[in-house]
Amino acid sequence: MWEYTETVKEHYKNPKNAGEMPDADAIGEVGSIACGDALKLFLKIDKNGIIVDAKFQTFGCGSAVASASILTEMLIGKTVEEAEKISNQDIADLLGGLPEQKMHCSVMGREALEDALAKFKGEPKEKKVKGKIICGCFGVTEDKIREIIKKDLINSPEEITNYTKAGGGCGKCKDDLAKILNEELAKRNNGKKDKPLTRTQLILKVNKVLENKIAPELRKDGGDIELIDVEDKKILVNLQGACKNCPSSNLTLKNFVENSLKEYFGEDIEVIEA
Ligand code: FES
Repeated sequence: MWEYTETVKEHYKNPKNAGEMPDADAIGEVGSIACGDALKLFLKIDKNGIIVDAKFQTFGCGSAVASASILTEMLIGKTVEEAEKISNQDIADLLGGLPEQKMHCSVMGREALEDALAKFKGEPKEKKVKGKIICGCFGVTEDKIREIIKKDLINSPEEITNYTKAGGGCGKCKDDLAKILNEELAKRNNGKKDKPLTRTQLILKVNKVLENKIAPELRKDGGDIELIDVEDKKILVNLQGACKNCPSSNLTLKNFVENSLKEYFGEDIEVIEA
């Protein structure tokens, strides 16, 4: 059974800004009812490029409703440029996290937003659907799978399914998913060997892995983690919340945090409590 945060439950039970907007300036659509999830996002944008209203209609699970609901709240009052920077991880974070298996709901929110903003700016629609369809069950393209693997630092076929739903139906596409994943992981690893990261790039990348992969797991148990610094191969962090005074904090640091970071930054890194 999946664990949902209080924020997810609240947005599911009392969704904000649900409904149609007849005079919308932009409408973003993603998914299809045949695939099990669909989201329509309506935006009202004033002459200064500020989103003054946002509404949504969705056919999906509780996480899809909660993701769309909180996304509309995030959007109202933002400029188009600010809205473009909202990621699926921002949506999930503001909900206090989503179960890994439900991350595709936050991705659906991000894609509906991209579609609406592209239409508002008059960008060609083909841009949104390019790429060969890999998963026929859910209409997921190769481009989308490669993008998610890179952007969300995906490491396993299960994560691809959690973020895109690809592979979650008949399973025929699983060999293709594994092949694409292996190609992208090889590129990621080659990139690591060929071009050493600058200190700033390394800090940003470590922070991204902490935020996207490690902190959500700790937050499920009331804990958290903050990056303090990176000194050569030493990664200095602060455990927070329930993790801080937990008798097992050292095990969490070494067995979970350090081992997870080693998958991305090599066996020789060391994680230290600052
Ligand atoms: S083709 Fe991907 S699950 Fe069926």
